[in-house]
Amino acid sequence: MSERVSIHGIWSSRMAFVLAAAGSAIGLGNIWKFPYITGENGGGAFVLVYLLCVAVVGLPVMMSEILIGRRGRASPVNTMRYLASEAQRPRFWVLLGWSGMLAGVLIMSYYSVIAGWALAYVFKSAAGVLTDQTAEGIASIFNGFVTSPEKLLAWHTIFMVMNAIVLSRGVRSGLEQATRFMMPVLFLLLLILVGYAYKTPSFERGLVFLFTPDFSKISAGGVLTAMGHAFFTLSLGMGAIMVYGSYLPRNSSIALAAIGIAFLDTLVALLAGMAIFPLVFANNLAPGEGPGLIFQTLPVAFGHMPYGAGFGALFFIMVVLAAWTSGISLLEPAVAWLVENRRMARIRAVALVAITAWLLGILTIMSFSDWAFVFSFLGEVKRNGFYDLLDILTANFLLPLGGLAMAIFATWCMLPASVADELEMGNGLLFRGWYALTRYLTPLAVAIVFLHGLGLVQPVIRFVQGLFSVPVGGAA
Ligand code: PHE
Repeated sequence: MSERVSIHGIWSSRMAFVLAAAGSAIGLGNIWKFPYITGENGGGAFVLVYLLCVAVVGLPVMMSEILIGRRGRASPVNTMRYLASEAQRPRFWVLLGWSGMLAGVLIMSYYSVIAGWALAYVFKSAAGVLTDQTAEGIASIFNGFVTSPEKLLAWHTIFMVMNAIVLSRGVRSGLEQATRFMMPVLFLLLLILVGYAYKTPSFERGLVFLFTPDFSKISAGGVLTAMGHAFFTLSLGMGAIMVYGSYLPRNSSIALAAIGIAFLDTLVALLAGMAIFPLVFANNLAPGEGPGLIFQTLPVAFGHMPYGAGFGALFFIMVVLAAWTSGISLLEPAVAWLVENRRMARIRAVALVAITAWLLGILTIMSFSDWAFVFSFLGEVKRNGFYDLLDILTANFLLPLGGLAMAIFATWCMLPASVADELEMGNGLLFRGWYALTRYLTPLAVAIVFLHGLGLVQPVIRFVQGLFSVPVGGAA
């Protein structure tokens, strides 16, 4: 068997891969999105469904995505082209690479805008603008800020440039170095903040909200959101993990790496929840605040504590670091593809992809601001409308469908021998257990959640019943 080689280089060790992939996974999804969607969907039950999805769907898909990447050793488009031809499968599997590249650029377009908010809040906190404000004061600062297109544009631009700089330095001196430094700092900052929340009288109430499931509070749409979030937060289904896997050296266990990444990601989300909800309750704020949650609630708490300006700035620095190591992975599939297929110098490829995502980001900025009227042709003008649309399209559809396709490709299309060879876990019970889970249970779970979320479970059950109900007495 001839081993393929990545033209972009490889990670210096498995540890470097785990850090970079954890850097991709841990991002705004954990610190910004997880708390606000948990708040919107009622807490504990939502968290439980999300955790189940990580275990039953996320882990198997992550292993599939890494192994596909490492076998293909190229950008997702070229990896899928190569693997489909190796397994003598139709060429349309290449579409999986394309949809991933598209999803990455679409996500980055709004991701960078939100990361820009965090960047702005580092300075607002440090300068004391948020100190000693009432909840209304903080809310009006936030609303004033997100409706100022020129400010959002400036911060969005800065964040995009930060990503372009790391990306243009390549796999080892860019992506690897950045994550090696940023991830430990992030953990430390998070622990300090949980320590602070622990000292507030509402710590227990925060934990109860997060960990006591009340199933009457979660809707079918909430279940779909929980599954979509499992994909989003683990960076699955769009090729980020696939392209990182293509830089993974051999002789590194994919299963252990995947477990490590999923564990770290989940830990950070739960810690973020444990840091944030006690502060929300301690200040009598509402958990279902929406995308503004961490920007409208935490500054109130920080504003009233000793050294609050410093803690606040630290918190937002942490958010920016987390977003930075994810942003680079959103664009890497497209950058790698341009370098491979257009023979473009890496720096030009980075510029092209970053500018595309930057331009698209302007639409999100407009949808938050007074420019929202531009979307009036879509009907009644709705603030955040474009952002909501992108979020639902990518997190609830493109990522789960992409992840589903990867699990199916790995276990129904690739030769079992190639899969076993990549996973390097022998052919024993563990491998067969993973294979069966990924081949049957994972696709079934994703399909059920989809049908459930779209309100199609009952009609499908009736249809299936119809197939089997033979009229009594034959042709009576
Ligand atoms: N996982 C990242 C987060 O939680 C977002 C992301 C999604 C990154 C998909 C890459 C690919 O913020």
